[in-house]
Amino acid sequence: MDYLNSLFSLDGQVAVVIGGTGNLCGSMGIALARAGAEVILVGRNPESAIEKLAAIDAFGGKSWFHKADVTRRDDIDDLLTAALLRSEKVDILVNGAGVGSGTPFLEISDSEIAQLMDINFNSVFHACQIFGDYFIKRNEPCSIINMGSMAGRMPVSGIFAYSAAKAAVHNLSKNLAREWAEHDIRVNTLVPGFFPAAEASRLGDEMRALEILRHTPMSRFGNADELSAATLMLASNKAGSFITGTEIIIDGGFSAMTI
Ligand SMILES: NC(=O)c1ccc[n+]([C@@H]2O[C@H](COP(=O)([O-])OP(=O)(O)OC[C@H]3O[C@@H](n4cnc5c(N)ncnc54)[C@H](O)[C@@H]3O)[C@@H](O)[C@H]2O)c1
Repeated sequence: MDYLNSLFSLDGQVAVVIGGTGNLCGSMGIALARAGAEVILVGRNPESAIEKLAAIDAFGGKSWFHKADVTRRDDIDDLLTAALLRSEKVDILVNGAGVGSGTPFLEISDSEIAQLMDINFNSVFHACQIFGDYFIKRNEPCSIINMGSMAGRMPVSGIFAYSAAKAAVHNLSKNLAREWAEHDIRVNTLVPGFFPAAEASRLGDEMRALEILRHTPMSRFGNADELSAATLMLASNKAGSFITGTEIIIDGGFSAMTI
């Protein structure tokens, strides 16, 4: 156990998990807390944090909720200020706020594109700017985990603006990894395949779900806790010490499938 602890323990670390009130990042927040980090769950709705905060409390972990709409730059500034006030530092940032939309390409309005870009990409851009500036000044090893998507790597039908925004997240992560390696700030993208628990509407109808399963060698969807191990590896400055600018795909083999 000493060996595992030396690699994965996050004791004494502070993690800000944007989207931590949701399904996947909520589970990732719990995993970070289980590894010893103090976790700040960030979202728009305090009620959706209650269950996650209680789960962390149940094993003696430390966490708190911060309300923010991360499409607003000011809210991200306030988030950093609040985190430094209450937890004194931040070591890990997870950027996981996201929403999809199945509007057909020719029908997507400018306002819908702008809203999807705001939530799925601009929020990540601003959080990386604000926290990255802090991380550089702090001058300690830090980790940023951006939530990408299979849809950001390859065409997935029907979710055009979301896919484009996620492709931008993948690209930004690599650029920042290159820029900030000299500061020991690692920036990686976690790429889930299909984890429909909170995404029934994104997956659409039953036929589409069947198509996805047919294209997934493991013939099933992912469960949120199947992101935990990769999250801890990317977050840990020991286990992930030489991992930056990469994408960790967790998709039951979806991206390995052609015909
Ligand atoms: N579930 C999947 O199959 C899947 C696949 C690939 C990528 N992803 C990505 O993983 C991340 C988490 O997805 P999820 O399935 O857990 O979704 P989810 O809807 O359960 O969680 C998303 C969270 O983001 C928060 N959020 C949305 N807009 C926000 C805003 N403006 N300000 C603050 N918080 C905001 C929501 O409140 C919610 O808590 C997203 O970035 C998503 O795009 C999910």
